[in-house]
Amino acid sequence: MNAQVMPTTNVTDATARPAFGAVLASQMAVATWKDGKWSQHEFRKYGTLELSPAIHALHYGSACFEGFKAYRWADGSVNVFRMDRHIARLQRSADCLMLPKPDATQAAAMVSGVIDRVRGEVPEAPGALYLRPTLFGTGASIGGATLPATEAMLVVLASPVWDYFANGEKPLRIYVEERLTRASTLMGQVKAAGNYAAALGPTLTARQQHQADQVLFCPGGSVQETGAANFLLIREGKILTRSLDTTFLHGITRDSLLTIAPQLGFAVEEREFSVDEMLAWVKDGEAALCGTAAVLSGVGMLVREGGREFAVGTGEVGPHTKRLRKALVSMQRGEIPTPAGWITRV
Ligand SMILES: Cc1ncc(COP(=O)(O)O)c(C=O)c1O
Repeated sequence: MNAQVMPTTNVTDATARPAFGAVLASQMAVATWKDGKWSQHEFRKYGTLELSPAIHALHYGSACFEGFKAYRWADGSVNVFRMDRHIARLQRSADCLMLPKPDATQAAAMVSGVIDRVRGEVPEAPGALYLRPTLFGTGASIGGATLPATEAMLVVLASPVWDYFANGEKPLRIYVEERLTRASTLMGQVKAAGNYAAALGPTLTARQQHQADQVLFCPGGSVQETGAANFLLIREGKILTRSLDTTFLHGITRDSLLTIAPQLGFAVEEREFSVDEMLAWVKDGEAALCGTAAVLSGVGMLVREGGREFAVGTGEVGPHTKRLRKALVSMQRGEIPTPAGWITRV
């Protein structure tokens, strides 16, 4: 079934808001790669694509995407947060999957062009327009198991969004998975579509058995990230998070928070840490998930195998998490200045 296209997006009644990503904006941009080069992109009404069932992405998983947001500021202008970093990550995802690298200038023009065409569909705060450039291998041959895609397509979709977690800013319940990895060692650092399918089984099981909102992957007892967000431990004057490696996504929200943390009085420590250390931290500290969709969402409870529960602090979203979230959101909404180059006005 096609996702809905919503005619008007300023839904003020929170209960009437559609689920994250369930509504698509009315326009999209499409470019194709063939004979070693990218075509001119075109803007189209959002709708179906006609594709062979033999395309490389369907058989061999050559598909990746980006996710970032444009915000309507109080002055009515529409502004994208850290677009260049997201496009650079799309290029790294392309490299990892042996897909043709999108040209950064063209990808930015596709994103800006879509936003411009759906300007009236960008929700007021706390909503935003979620941008979803999607790159995948086409070329109709099912013989490409050990070959890169011969053709590819880049499609930029947009979606008016509100809260990612259905319960808004309530503290999250997170299942701590201590054996399984979320993604294969090299793929974790990029937004490969298959990573999300791989995390689904453990996520659905944790939801069913433990009523968990998300799974925190901690293979071998080393804390990594959740199925769709990075993970931070926070306390007075300090943030601890895993140092970058190839196993987990290098989140741009994580980077933004770590960049502004010192100004807010938090020293940042990036290193590996264990489940045991995390459990000791949360006795009187805070924990939170961060990402474009999650923003900075506080964790209230960690659940281990067998349903053993560990409250994070008082079980409520802590004051330091709230303060960091407010600073991040204020920058995204243009209420306070950002470091140079973080905002692209469309
Ligand atoms: C697996 C995973 N980790 C982390 C993140 C956070 O990345 P970003 O802050 O760039 O959105 C995401 C995406 O939102 C993700 O899907």
